[in-house]
Amino acid sequence: MSVSSFAVQHRRLDTLLEAHLLDVVGADFTLAPARLRRWRRALDRHIGIEETRLLPHVPEQARWGAHVYRAEHERIGLLADKYALRLEAVAARPPRGARARRQAVLALLDAAHALRHVLEHHHEREEMALAHELSAMLLEGAWRRRS
Ligand SMILES: [Fe+2]
Ligand SMILES: [Fe+2]
Repeated sequence: MSVSSFAVQHRRLDTLLEAHLLDVVGADFTLAPARLRRWRRALDRHIGIEETRLLPHVPEQARWGAHVYRAEHERIGLLADKYALRLEAVAARPPRGARARRQAVLALLDAAHALRHVLEHHHEREEMALAHELSAMLLEGAWRRRS
C-alpha cells in the first residue's frame, strides 16, 4: 500500500511534466511555460512533504540516508530552474519559421533530458527503498494531510 502511494504521487508529477513536454513537442510556446510552472508547483509541494514529513523518519538501517534524498531534491530543483530559464528564453522570443521552431523544440527536449533522467532515478529510489522503510501509516498520512 505504501509503495503504491509513492508511485501514485510520482505518476501524477510525471503526467504534469508530460503535458508540458507535449506542448513543447507541438511548439506551443504560449502554453508550455504555464504548464511547466504547474508541474513545478506540484513538484515543490511533493518535495516539501517528503522533506518535512517523511525524511526525518528514515530509519538508521535504511539503504540510503535522508541526505541522499535531500541532495537529489536539490539537484532536481537546480536542473528544473535551468530548464525553466531555457524555456522562458524561447517563449520570450518565439522562433519564426518551421525549421527554427523545430530546432528550438529539439534544443528544449535535449535540455529537459538530464532533468527527466535524474527524476526517473530519484522516483525509482524512493519507490524501491523509502516506500518500504517507512510505515504505511506515515506515508498515507503525509500525502493526505497537505493535499
Ligand atoms: Fe523525493
Ligand atoms: Fe518523491
